[in-house]
Amino acid sequence: GTVVLAYSGGLDTSVAIRWIKEKYNLDVIALTIDVGNERDLSAIAERARKIGAVKALVVDGRNDFIRYFVWPALQAGAIYEGQYPLATALARPLIARLLVEVARQEGAVAVAHGCTGKGNDQVRFDVSINTLAPDLKIIAPVREWSMTRDNEIAYATEHNIPISVTSASPYSVDQNLWGRSIECGILEDPWAEPPADVYAWTSDPDTLEAKAPTYVELTFKHGIPVALNGEEQEGAEIVETLNRVAGTYGIGRIDHVENRLVGIKSREIYEAPAAVVLHAAHQALETITLSRDQVRFKDIVAGEYARLIYNGQWYSAPHQDLASYVQSTQRFVSGTVRMKLSRGHCTVVGRKSEHSLYDHGLATYDSGDQFDHNAALGFIKLWGLPLNTQAQAQILPSLG
Ligand code: ARG
Ligand code: SIN
Repeated sequence: GTVVLAYSGGLDTSVAIRWIKEKYNLDVIALTIDVGNERDLSAIAERARKIGAVKALVVDGRNDFIRYFVWPALQAGAIYEGQYPLATALARPLIARLLVEVARQEGAVAVAHGCTGKGNDQVRFDVSINTLAPDLKIIAPVREWSMTRDNEIAYATEHNIPISVTSASPYSVDQNLWGRSIECGILEDPWAEPPADVYAWTSDPDTLEAKAPTYVELTFKHGIPVALNGEEQEGAEIVETLNRVAGTYGIGRIDHVENRLVGIKSREIYEAPAAVVLHAAHQALETITLSRDQVRFKDIVAGEYARLIYNGQWYSAPHQDLASYVQSTQRFVSGTVRMKLSRGHCTVVGRKSEHSLYDHGLATYDSGDQFDHNAALGFIKLWGLPLNTQAQAQILPSLG
């Protein structure tokens, strides 16, 4: 039989190729999915073959990732616990789908991934795979074997498994177009300030005193970014440019002690320059294109949406329901937002839309004011009526 392994090229999944062969006597097909991880993909495939994979496939998932996972999450305003833009969590259902697709093409009996047994990612993979293909067996070597990192390195040496330099890093890193997630090492102490070597995409804002601010204009159509500084671009291109430019301003550093689905609190550092800028811009556009009641209810949905994604329920009916609602809200979320990038943060400084609900005639304190001040008196009287009634009957008497 054959198993399709989600292969990153790192220590865990490299050791896994050999271990699965030994333990399960299955042929391993290594599947490396590019979601914008900036690695040498042909070298990774070559390594998989060297270690003993019968086949090593590389799939470009970048555009699908942006279009079907990142943009809907941006439109929803999905940020887990108010901090984490969900880069890792959003890529998992895509990787699961591609694992299943390749497993079908290759007639495989199983799929495999390199997640540990105490994280969110195992849940996201397993639940997604079980939903899409309940007959496929799931092998999770790192969850099943009882090797420490040192054991893994010893196993690799013993079996002539080439391991990359990056596997010497004290951190566990996952990255894609939407952000970089870093954990382990000193970061496991929530009192310890992250050392400089944690960061790879963002400059230290404290070193940027002399750096002059810059402006970017982001144009959205139905809540989806379509142009940068007036120039139409593919989604992946917009995200890459923003990661680079906002990264040089030290924008997008996030230090989050989060609640994992499995009940553990874990401290994670994120770098997500593009996600931070785009969420701020998108939200600013909604302030002029959605009504008060839409904003209020959508905010509730955003929290639920983020939780669903974080908790691995992408392929679920509740997610479909919320996604339909979100799409409906985006009908008029088209326009342009002007952002100022300065050291450590981005600020919205301008917003415009042909569907804007902002009415200068109603808002102005200058001449040209069209707001009916007399109507305000009647409104206040009725708005305050129940408060007044209750105060007379209950609250004032109890005060004596
Ligand atoms: N805590 C984040 C999540 O659950 C990221 C997990 C992967 N992080 C890592 N450093 N390997 O989505
Ligand atoms: C892992 O445990 O495999 C990574 C962290 C996580 O899934 O939350």
